[in-house]
Parts: sequence; C-alpha cells; structure tokens
Amino acid sequence: MKLRSAAWFGLLDRDGFIHRSWMKNQGLPDHLFDGRPVIGICNTWSELTPCNAHFRRLAEHVKRGVYEAGGFPLEFPVMSLGETLMRPTTMLFRNLVSMDVEESIRANPLDGVVLLAGCDKTTPALLMGAASCDLPAIMVSGGPMLNGKFRGQDIGSGTDVWKFSEDVRCGAMKMCEFQEAESCMSRSAGHCMTMGTASTMACVVEALGMGLPTNAAIPAADSRRYALAHMAGHRIVQMVHEDLRMSKILTRPAFENAIRVVAAIGGSTNAVIHLLAIAGRIGVDLTLQDWDVLGSDIPCLLNLMPSGQYLMEDFYYAGGLPAVIRELGSLIHRDALTVNGKTIGDNVEAAPCYNRDVVKPLAEPLKPSSGIAVLHGNLCPNGAVIKPSAATPELMKHRGRAIVFENIEDFHTRVDDPGLEIDPACVMVLKNCGPRGYPGMPEVGNMPLPTRILQAGVKDMIRISDARMSGTAYGTVVLHVSPEAAAGGVLGLVRTGDAIELDVAERRLHLDVADAEIERRRAEWKPPHPVFRRGYYQLYYDHVLQADRGADLDFLVGRSGAGVPRECH
Ligand code: FES
Repeated sequence: MKLRSAAWFGLLDRDGFIHRSWMKNQGLPDHLFDGRPVIGICNTWSELTPCNAHFRRLAEHVKRGVYEAGGFPLEFPVMSLGETLMRPTTMLFRNLVSMDVEESIRANPLDGVVLLAGCDKTTPALLMGAASCDLPAIMVSGGPMLNGKFRGQDIGSGTDVWKFSEDVRCGAMKMCEFQEAESCMSRSAGHCMTMGTASTMACVVEALGMGLPTNAAIPAADSRRYALAHMAGHRIVQMVHEDLRMSKILTRPAFENAIRVVAAIGGSTNAVIHLLAIAGRIGVDLTLQDWDVLGSDIPCLLNLMPSGQYLMEDFYYAGGLPAVIRELGSLIHRDALTVNGKTIGDNVEAAPCYNRDVVKPLAEPLKPSSGIAVLHGNLCPNGAVIKPSAATPELMKHRGRAIVFENIEDFHTRVDDPGLEIDPACVMVLKNCGPRGYPGMPEVGNMPLPTRILQAGVKDMIRISDARMSGTAYGTVVLHVSPEAAAGGVLGLVRTGDAIELDVAERRLHLDVADAEIERRRAEWKPPHPVFRRGYYQLYYDHVLQADRGADLDFLVGRSGAGVPRECH
C-alpha cells in the first residue's frame, strides 16, 4: 500500500529534495525516508497546562514504540488548554485547538497520529480535529494524579476545593489549613484524579475504542502509563498498515457505548457537549436526546468522587475501566471495533475486578440510575441537562421563586448582599454564561450559595444557567440551557420573582409566565454587547453552535479527509 507520506518523502524531484533535506538537519538518516509509516505525535505539552506537563516524556515512550514497529515518529506541538489558568475559559478555545490539530495533520506528511491529551478540553479538541482528517489515530491519555493526601485523609481534585472553600466561608475550616491543602491535593504529575471531566473524557476515549485497554485510569506517575504509551506507538504503525481509520472505530455503536459508560462511571456533564461535537465531526448522527434515552437508566457502578468516595488511583488498582465495561454486559455493543484491532467485548472478556467497593457489581450498584437527564420546557426549548445522581432528591420536583443574576459580575456583586431576598426554596438563575454570552460557556453553573444560607446549614439549592459545571462539582444544577440567554433564549427573559417549576421525573423545566408576557419581554430584549469584537472571539461569536449541538463552530462540523491537492513550492 502506498502511504500518504510518499507524496512528500517519496518524490525524487526538487520538491522531494526540499521535503527531505530540511528534515535531515535534525540528524535523521536516509533510511527513515524509505516509505515507512510516518507517525505524528500530537503533543499538548505546556508548562501552562500542569495536567499535561509530563507529556514530553510520554512522547519519548511513544517514539520508542513507533521505531520498534518500523515507523518514523515526528512529534509536533499544538495549542494547549490548561483548565486552571486560562481566561475566560478553555472551552472558548476547544474549537480553535481542534482547527490547529486538523490543519497540522492534514498539511503534513503523516500516515497516522498518536494524540496526547489530558486536561479537560485537550481530549475532545484532539479527537475533533483528528476526526475531521480521518487518518488512523490512537489516543494516549496523560493519566490522573496520585490521590491527594491531606492530614491523613484522601482528598480529590476540585471536589474537595469546592468543599473546603465552603467550609472556610461558613467557618468550619481555617485559612491556614485551606492553604496547606493546596500542595497536598496536587502532589504528582497528571490530571484531576476525581471523576471530573478529564477522567470522564479519558474513559470516553477507552469506551469509544480510541485508546488501548486500561488507558483511562493508569496514574501519570505509574510506569505502566509509559509502557502503554510505548505500546500505542507500536500499534499505530500496524494501524496504518491496516488502514484502520477513525471512522471505522467512531461508529454509532461506539458513541452509544460511551454514553452508557459515562453513566456507569458517574461521569461529567461536560461529556455531553464534547461527545456531540466529536460525533458531528466524524458524521455520526448523535443528539442530545440520545443521552437521556440511552444513558439515564444506567446504574452508577463506580464509587469515585464526586458521586462516591474513591479516586482514580484506586480505580486503576481495582481493575480500571475494563472492569466497569465487563460489568455492563449486554448494555454494551460488544462488537464495536477498537484501536487494538479487537472488539471492545473481546478486550474486556476476562477483565478482573480486584476491589468490589470501588467497582460495584451491576446487581448492587452505587446508585440505581446515574446518567444525564435531558429537560425540556418553555425555558429550554432545545434542551437542558441535569445530573440527577449529583442532585438533592427532595429538589428534583420543585416550584420556586426565581432570583435572577444578569451575568457573572452581577452574581458576584449581589450574592452576599444582605438586601437580597433569597431563601433556600428560591431558584437561582444565572444568565449570559452560554457559548456566545460569556463567551465560551464556562464552568460557573454550580454558583456558590449565599454565605448566610450556607451558614444556616443548607448545602443545596436549584440553580439554572446556560453555563457548564465542573465535572468535579455537585448539586441540583440545571446546565446547558438552550438556546442561551445571549442568543435570544427565554432564559434571558426571566425576572426575579417569576415562578419556575422543575420536575426531573417528567423531564420538565417551565417558566410559569404567560406566553403573552414572555413575548412582551422578548420585544424589549436587547442582546448583550460581546466582550471583544475582533480576532478569534469574533469568529467564535459569529459561528458557535448552541450547547445542544456540541458548541462546535458551524463551519467545522463534518470531515474533509486528509487530502491536499497542491504542493507548497
Ligand atoms: Fe486539568 Fe482538572 S485541571 S484535568
């Protein structure tokens, strides 16, 4: 089979000279240009992305595997997204990174790609970009951090930050203890070790068949993470010879498997948006409603924070994701193909479970149903999501008085205002935090409760917004309201004092205001001014799709393959 890279390195003319000669300035010998598979290693390493800061070493191990299998590895950087530092939110840049990935792959003489991702958005961004090129690809996740350890207790990334900060606000924790916990939480290389978005997306990679078995849970600091990277490098060379492209793996059954796995692991609501966007790129017809239909009744089998007690390190020692997938039995499409050339059913056939308190049996789950519920109603005609397993059961059917915050600044200014007439039965509403409104749809949907309500011992209230929520967070939080306020959604017309009804069992979210009054308010409504009116912000504002369609840019949906008709000289 003539490889794609031969159109560069196989030429004997002036262009071939140029393609090879400049590469040889890196000390690459002639025989690497003899027609062997050229493997790109797409690296999101950055010191500004602490979760991915160990990726140079990971890439070295991928290279060993590529060389061992007779390939020619070439590592290349793409923009990285560090969840803890980037403003206004990494989600704004997910689509930009996907463009970087797509065009870097297509423009270069690559036959296959190993994708190195870890921190939340790096995983979907790389899958989206690579899917639009549809070359053989395999993902190696960076792996979670080791368990946080603080004063003799395990503590989890994110989940315990939210808890500690509320403890400080209500006087249950001293500031010096809070600061001491910083270095105790993040004590090794790797991404958040709770079942937050990064761990959820690493599980999605494995459930989709895009990663080798056990890819999701091996800690970043564990030598077996590097062995897996080595094996991925070896395997991608074979995948090129087999022409095992992404579109052969990312089929509708693979996405259905991923939805069910996200439910079984108590995964992040962010997976909803990312999976819709990835499906859109590869051309699989996946809808928001599929999440409810396929996943909402799946039991939670994994006892990990924020739904449960343990952390990713414990998950790996218990058997990792293969133990969960095996437990799901016939709820999984067992014949879905994976990157190692076997079906997912074959991969988990003999998967052991070493700790039944971490991975629960299907017959005795941690929670009976754990997936995402998709809500509809006049407040969210195109849908909104809630994670019932993270919510308070008593609030799942509730009617309350809306307390409206027009944007995030308004929220911060007024949430602790003594004059704010709020009580625990109220429904907190946050506007203008969606894809266009913020911009970028940040993780602010789990807005903190007013201090005086926390001090009264109340831990949860209904919160509704067009924002997202960190996968490490919890609460009765309605997210991803679509259309968002800034795009003219009814959310933007809610006023303080309106009655809102939530009924999760009926999948209903209703603003109890007469249609005529809603229309009267709509006629008065003016869209908020965008923060910036140039550059990528402008491109994003003009083209971003709503949350129910994955918040991709409209012109990026779909794939155009890896062909480039013209030479560069
Ligand atoms: Fe990177 Fe949580 S901050 S995964």
